[in-house]
Amino acid sequence: MFCMVHSLGLVGLQAYRIQVEVDTARGLPSFEIVGLPDTAVKESRDRVRAAVKNSGFAFPVSRITANLAPADIKKAGSVYDLPLFVGILRASGQLKADTDDCAFIGELSLRGDLRPVRGVLPMAIEARRQGYRALFVPAENAMEAGVVEGLEILPAATVKEVLDHLSKAALIAPYHSQLPPDDAIYPLDFADVKGQYLAKRAFEVAACGGHNILLMGPPGSGKSMLAKRLPGIMPPMTFAEKLSATMVHSIAGTLPPETALLSSRPFRAPHHTISAVGLAGGGSTPRPGEVSLASGGILFLDEFAEFKRSAIEVLRQPMEDGTVRINRGGVTVQYPCDILLVAAMNPCPCGWAGHPTRRCSCSPSAISRYLGRISGPVLDRIDIHLQLQPVDYDALASPLPAESSAQIRRRVVAGRQRQLDRQQQTGVSCNAKLPAGVLDTVCAMTEPAQQMLRGAFERMGLSARARDKLLKLSRTVADLDGSEQITGDHMAEVIQYRQLDRPDAGF
Ligand SMILES: Nc1ncnc2c1ncn2[C@@H]1O[C@H](COP(=O)(O)OP(=O)(O)OP(=O)(O)O)[C@@H](O)[C@H]1O
Ligand SMILES: [Mg+2]
Ligand SMILES: [Zn+2]
Repeated sequence: MFCMVHSLGLVGLQAYRIQVEVDTARGLPSFEIVGLPDTAVKESRDRVRAAVKNSGFAFPVSRITANLAPADIKKAGSVYDLPLFVGILRASGQLKADTDDCAFIGELSLRGDLRPVRGVLPMAIEARRQGYRALFVPAENAMEAGVVEGLEILPAATVKEVLDHLSKAALIAPYHSQLPPDDAIYPLDFADVKGQYLAKRAFEVAACGGHNILLMGPPGSGKSMLAKRLPGIMPPMTFAEKLSATMVHSIAGTLPPETALLSSRPFRAPHHTISAVGLAGGGSTPRPGEVSLASGGILFLDEFAEFKRSAIEVLRQPMEDGTVRINRGGVTVQYPCDILLVAAMNPCPCGWAGHPTRRCSCSPSAISRYLGRISGPVLDRIDIHLQLQPVDYDALASPLPAESSAQIRRRVVAGRQRQLDRQQQTGVSCNAKLPAGVLDTVCAMTEPAQQMLRGAFERMGLSARARDKLLKLSRTVADLDGSEQITGDHMAEVIQYRQLDRPDAGF
């Protein structure tokens, strides 16, 4: 007998409809799965066989062929255990239920328990798009799947629960996720950072305009402290951003437990020994890399000069395009890469160059070799450079409370809104992404601002690219100020954010 059971598969972030066809025929008893299965699907055969026996059914003594269609999509993972199980029981006449309007995903244990699988959110979205009425999922994946509306999510802990539902012996209650409140709570607050007014202001500008930032400073100057607080002052995530971030983490298997939808901006801080594949993504079954896991939030590269050049260079294209494309065996998968990059480094190998009291022991050539390790093309994508000094004692000991993240964020949100209001004209959602072609139209400057820009250009020997950066940054500062025109004050502020453009900076 022949039957077909619906399921879903994934290539990158994209989910597809998969038909699990099962045919039982007379002949020597065997069980074959065809349709480009990988090893996980082959192992599925053993699990399904055991689960059928251990849940009180007879494994059919016939020639069983299961086909996962379409054959040209590479199947991975253990998602098809459950649909295969249902297919075998139906094809052998042991389950008399119509499953045409349902889809099934889930891994089985030998005993017949359902185990969670990855990528449930994109699969649930696709299941709704395909018009299925219901989707059976392992109980542990319920929260993630339950975000999708217009589709019954039926979570089950065992195959018995699935069968009881199908035979109407005991119905499973459809699951709906309680969506988290719109505004995430970030535990780390800028109020903890004493002094460092310029640095905090630079982070505010970065958060508002989406500008990448490079921090240079001696050990203990607060680089990590500042970077970790950045997600808390960024504008709230849009629903699309939450969905996209959740999908990536769902596929990577890094969704925190009990999470229906990620609602706080990711913060990823990979170690400097990370490989290019770890950073950008890839592998024989392509996995999202750190840039995609950070998408919608912050990628923090601490000890920036220590990263392998080959690893940093792969960031170029994804940062430019906003997506990572990974090609494997003729199939291209895409993952998002919408990150705010925060890079931090010491100013020299010993760390103390420029420190007010400690002495740097590095030779000038050692310093320039060290700075020379930073990839030029990636540096080109960083708008703000900041040299940090350790906080002075008076500021540290001051009892005055510093401004909180909530206060800073209010300004950021208002400033970002001005950028969104301009989106029709610019085509982009934040100033960091402004294309060169529109800069002169959207960056109207007062006379003093123009003079100041010209002065900086000539005095600091700026490149055309550095001028563009100053324009974008001053646009953001003016937006924070609620001003349509860029004034001399705005321009004066942002010139401080291009400290590595100085001819004496060593780059
Ligand atoms: N402005 C500040 N206000 C309050 N505490 C601070 C400040 N700056 C530094 N600290 C304290 O110093 C510690 C070290 O700071 P942090 O780890 O951010 O330094 P860093 O610049 O990242 O150093 P490294 O180069 O060693 O990584 C912080 O955990 C914090 O306790
Ligand atoms: Mg640090
Ligand atoms: Zn030094």
